[in-house]
Amino acid sequence: MTSSTQSTAVSATATANDLAARAAASDLFKPTQLGPVQLANRIVMAPLTRSRAKEDDIPGDLAAEYYVQRASAGLIIAEATQISQQGKGYVFTPGIYSQPQVDAWKKITAAVHGAGGKIFLQLWHVGRISHPSIQADGALPVAPSAIKPEGQAYTTDGFVPLVTPRALATDEMPGIVKQYRTAAENAKAAGFDGVEIHAANGYLLDQFLRDKTNQRTDVYGGSIENRARLLMEVTAAVVAVWGGDRVGVRISPVSTFGDIADSNPQALFTYVVGQLNNFGLVYLHVIEGDTGGSRTPPVNFDPQILRRLFKGHYMANNGYDLSMALDVRDAKTVDLVCFGRPFISNPDLVERLRTVAPLATPDPATMYGGGAGGYIDYPALKDS
Ligand code: PHB
Repeated sequence: MTSSTQSTAVSATATANDLAARAAASDLFKPTQLGPVQLANRIVMAPLTRSRAKEDDIPGDLAAEYYVQRASAGLIIAEATQISQQGKGYVFTPGIYSQPQVDAWKKITAAVHGAGGKIFLQLWHVGRISHPSIQADGALPVAPSAIKPEGQAYTTDGFVPLVTPRALATDEMPGIVKQYRTAAENAKAAGFDGVEIHAANGYLLDQFLRDKTNQRTDVYGGSIENRARLLMEVTAAVVAVWGGDRVGVRISPVSTFGDIADSNPQALFTYVVGQLNNFGLVYLHVIEGDTGGSRTPPVNFDPQILRRLFKGHYMANNGYDLSMALDVRDAKTVDLVCFGRPFISNPDLVERLRTVAPLATPDPATMYGGGAGGYIDYPALKDS
């Protein structure tokens, strides 16, 4: 070893010791209440699309084992799950709109509970991020406005360009809300601890919120209040099923994921969060920055404004590591810290973070689709 690599190694050890001491003192690894649900710690497994569902959008047979392996997360938010066939945007994602789907999810929630875990379901309608080949009878995907997104759909023929969607008629909107209500009831029947309304990442609810994708002239478009109307109606319907203390909402105020943007995200999301406060929601899940990308994209936006405004728990997501998670818990600027990709390759992520153990890197080739490989065969540290 040269003296410079030696001193790098010494300082790495010092950093690890420092992190271990901070982890031992932090409440990140201590139990906390999420409304009526007790969590073993403040680390949340993010909803992660793994594209391993079976025919008819039934969750795959390995999903129970996959989630059980990760049940030491304080909370698991199960993968984005379509609330209807219309809400489906990718092949091999699961649904929550039929009895066989509910029955399959029941086995998964029971297994996670048996392992001491807690699990919410993420309710998903993709809106325009779909393709006729995935829709019933080859129908066009629906959206607030007939504006074609840039990007590709993942279909049985592989990746194909997205299409110009059909704008929903005003009198179709109660039907959309009903899809959410039924899915919320199904999630309850399936034994979940609660649900998360997916209003992020350029999917249907986000398409209504933001003015790049919503150019309607009815009561669901135009003003911020109008653009937020669908999310508020959906939230009211889901809260009527679950009670606010078992419902969270996910937003991504400045993300461009899904070819989306807004001319004034600060004003839009300040209004949205103020209105969401009327429902007594248990958490607000915020993707800080660009989804899976920069935490500080060019758009000027401070998510802490939302955090101070919101009355429930603030869950933060996007590129967190142990050091950042400890920082935000020391500063008390975040209540729950969400990890995505690290949970794919580290089923025992909580224990690895707590002990400052090395993390395995996920293999991109097996993230979406396939079988057990890259899904349930990442070992826990104690088994490797
Ligand atoms: C995806 O399937 O790629 C996906 C799903 C939900 C998200 C983001 C990405 O919020």
